[in-house]
Amino acid sequence: MAEAKRYVPIGKGIARKGRPYIYLNVAMSVDGKLAPASRHFVPFSSRRDQELLMLLRTEADAVMAGARTVDLGKVDLGPGGERFKKLRAAKGLAEHNVRVIVSGSASLNPKAHIFTQRFSPIIVLTTSRARKQRVNALRKVADEVLVSGGAEIDFPEALNLLREKWNIRTLLCEGGGEINGGLFRANVVDRLFVTISPVIFGGANAPTLADGIGVTHVRDATQLELFSLKRHKHELFLVYDVRPRRNTPAATM
Ligand SMILES: NC(=O)c1ccc[n+]([C@@H]2O[C@H](COP(=O)([O-])OP(=O)(O)OC[C@H]3O[C@@H](n4cnc5c(N)ncnc54)[C@H](OP(=O)(O)O)[C@@H]3O)[C@@H](O)[C@H]2O)c1
Repeated sequence: MAEAKRYVPIGKGIARKGRPYIYLNVAMSVDGKLAPASRHFVPFSSRRDQELLMLLRTEADAVMAGARTVDLGKVDLGPGGERFKKLRAAKGLAEHNVRVIVSGSASLNPKAHIFTQRFSPIIVLTTSRARKQRVNALRKVADEVLVSGGAEIDFPEALNLLREKWNIRTLLCEGGGEINGGLFRANVVDRLFVTISPVIFGGANAPTLADGIGVTHVRDATQLELFSLKRHKHELFLVYDVRPRRNTPAATM
């Protein structure tokens, strides 16, 4: 519980119509990488940071990740043990969060570990460019597969659907780099939690905080405001709010 007192809760100040409130959490090296160039999941941040991740999940109706984060590791995106479930209950949330996986071409492995963990619904977001066979294979293991019309996930539309159909008001995205980049490009992120661990990985192939297409011009960059900064030993815990742009799809709490 002492850990919970040090924890910065998500900002619930925004109450507008539309999509869920979206917050992202990453642990990164000082050079901005989410993993070494092997891209294999290796926990490199402190136990305190791993505790932070679990505490952030206690505020989420849904936890979301990209296909590679899910199928390259033993990931279940669940709420964790009894202590965390009690925190969820105290906040009026369901015992288990919904799990959302983004896989634009439905390349997500239907045999991934997450599909063996049946404690809460698993929703896959994909696109119409995905091969039917792959989509059908995922339909057999997921509770729902939502298909966006174009070649890319239409995040505002998909998030609205999650809000309406699954009553998801708060959604935590846990990476990796490609899905984070897509959410920033779609301009739907409200808050960003970044832990900077005192390591450098290097490597042009290592995933970074926001990958994918990115922006071409500085003027199109996502603008952040520092909400809080804490230091523990040699690790930094930063929380940023994303400055709303014009025509930003709004969150509903
Ligand atoms: N340090 C941390 O906090 C942290 C957190 C999470 C992950 N990681 C690391 O990050 C790496 C994984 O990151 P990653 O960037 O390679 O993969 P990722 O974002 O987890 O997943 C990429 C896949 O997700 C789908 N996807 C993501 N964004 C999409 C979009 N906008 N539209 C459609 N589909 C989208 C695509 O699936 P399809 O191929 O089906 O199109 C894509 O191939 C791993 O090394 C993992 O260990 C680190």
